[in-house]
Amino acid sequence: MQNLKDKVAVVTGGNSGIGKAIAKLFAQEGAQIVITGRRPDAVDSAVAEIGQNALGFVSDASDLAEHHKLAEFVRERFGRIDIYIANAGVINLSRSEAVTLEDYDRHFETNTRGVFFGVQTIAPLIRDGGSIVVTGSLAATKVLPDHPVYAGSKAAVAAFARSWAMEFKERGIRVNVLSPGPVETEILGKLGVSEVDRPAFEEQMALAIPVGRMGRPDELARAALFLASDAGSFVNGIELHVDGGMSLS
Ligand SMILES: NC(=O)c1ccc[n+]([C@@H]2O[C@H](COP(=O)([O-])OP(=O)(O)OC[C@H]3O[C@@H](n4cnc5c(N)ncnc54)[C@H](OP(=O)(O)O)[C@@H]3O)[C@@H](O)[C@H]2O)c1
Repeated sequence: MQNLKDKVAVVTGGNSGIGKAIAKLFAQEGAQIVITGRRPDAVDSAVAEIGQNALGFVSDASDLAEHHKLAEFVRERFGRIDIYIANAGVINLSRSEAVTLEDYDRHFETNTRGVFFGVQTIAPLIRDGGSIVVTGSLAATKVLPDHPVYAGSKAAVAAFARSWAMEFKERGIRVNVLSPGPVETEILGKLGVSEVDRPAFEEQMALAIPVGRMGRPDELARAALFLASDAGSFVNGIELHVDGGMSLS
């Protein structure tokens, strides 16, 4: 299928996990893709995996100047874009009493400030009728242990997205939140779950998910395609939970 033929999509945090799965699917659907991430090797290998429709741009979403450099890169190559996926994110679990200022800032600088100024900077390049998808989290609406700061950083972006859906209405730009439950990505290793502990961790998580297992990145990518493409043309300002029903448990 070529649901995104001749579209240009920018995916932040597109070198890994959910972002990479979105970039791959969107490229298969005919889009030109620009992915970002901080690790040059991971950006290069993801570009190679996605294929000829992909370009990489090494960029730190917590650095405002880098959003401007990314916008300039995109403007020079394509002039405009159709889809912006604000997906780059970090997580570190901790009860509130143990949260340090550094932990707090790291979450808000990337997950929240990075999304806000990413959208502010790229918005002039988004074609009228385009689409923005922000990766939120189930944690923003469901209380999960040791998630207070991460949850707050993701709740803020869901609020931004609702405001943007109104602010961009004259330009016909739809803004939605893709809200994953637990998904098998590198983020688990970053949380400190070792390869050895992973099966037990996944089994434990599965107990809380009505579908009976964790999600796969490609399942999130299909939901992102729905939100970003004409399939979701009347869907605006929502938070789409793609969590196997975990929000109910
Ligand atoms: N997996 C889950 O269970 C889950 C659940 C709910 C929500 N989410 C959200 O889904 C999104 C994707 O996560 P994932 O699970 O796919 O994790 P992942 O595999 O760790 O991917 C995270 C991506 O974000 C990038 N990134 C992190 N900090 C960045 C920064 N400052 N600037 C630019 N890029 C940055 C990473 O690349 P570099 O390291 O190279 O910078 C990587 O590409 C995140 O927003 C996450 O919070 C994930």
